[in-house]
Amino acid sequence: MDEHSLRQKADSLTWYHTIDLGHNVITKGAVNTILRLPRYQLPENLSGLRVLDIGANNGFFSIEASRRGAKVVAMDKWRDDGAAPREQFDLACKATGATVEAYDLDVYDLSPDRFGVFDMTFFLGVLYHLKHPILALEKVASVTKGTMIMETHVDALDLDYPSAVYYTGSQINQDPTNYWGPNPLAVEAWVVEAGFSSFKPVSFYYLPKGEKSGETAMAESGQSMSELVKNIRAKVGEIYRARAVYHVYK
Ligand SMILES: C[S@@+](CC[C@H](N)C(=O)[O-])C[C@H]1O[C@@H](n2cnc3c(N)ncnc32)[C@H](O)[C@@H]1O
Repeated sequence: MDEHSLRQKADSLTWYHTIDLGHNVITKGAVNTILRLPRYQLPENLSGLRVLDIGANNGFFSIEASRRGAKVVAMDKWRDDGAAPREQFDLACKATGATVEAYDLDVYDLSPDRFGVFDMTFFLGVLYHLKHPILALEKVASVTKGTMIMETHVDALDLDYPSAVYYTGSQINQDPTNYWGPNPLAVEAWVVEAGFSSFKPVSFYYLPKGEKSGETAMAESGQSMSELVKNIRAKVGEIYRARAVYHVYK
């Protein structure tokens, strides 16, 4: 596809991810994934690793893993979810030349019998959309043999014991598929409950109440997510929205 046709096609679609399609065409994503990338601390070199991207949406992270040398399998409930149409994913992979095996699949249907196991799984922005988060984490654990990179919305930051807010209707971001807002201690308890052995806090994104733009803080070595959050709350006061990234080990 030449630059003009690619730009026309990309501009005719609605994008969740900002993806560099090449030929000077960058998709107009609702979320600037290119800017957000450092918060996930993906390993620079994924050569030879088998990576599963769960809830791949438009494919930014699948393409990034492929660019870093991984053999990538992507999955999403593309067919069932108008918010994540498959056309954008296919166009992005084709334009970038990323080789990604893709499946229309529910996370609850993941199984090692069908897909084998993966050196690394990406479970980014999906946990809080799920009615049964611990069951989903068990399914992810069953296909992860190395590291799960997990990103999630978090809430209940003022509670110093594992807690999760249950959202009804479209209480959060006008999205009825947002079910849970676990606090970091709950996230950590859930991953262990699901069969992972340990975890490392990586980053915490926060939007203080009354502010228009948020900031990302990287966890220092040995620092717990709860400590990081406590320090930030002491500095900025009440936090309106927050997201946490962990590397979780099998
Ligand atoms: C907020 S988007 C996150 C997309 C991408 N992983 C990221 O972090 O930018 C959530 C994605 O999870 C997918 N999703 C939600 N529930 C799912 C389920 N039960 N099984 C598979 N994918 C699901 C949605 O279709 C959507 O693409």
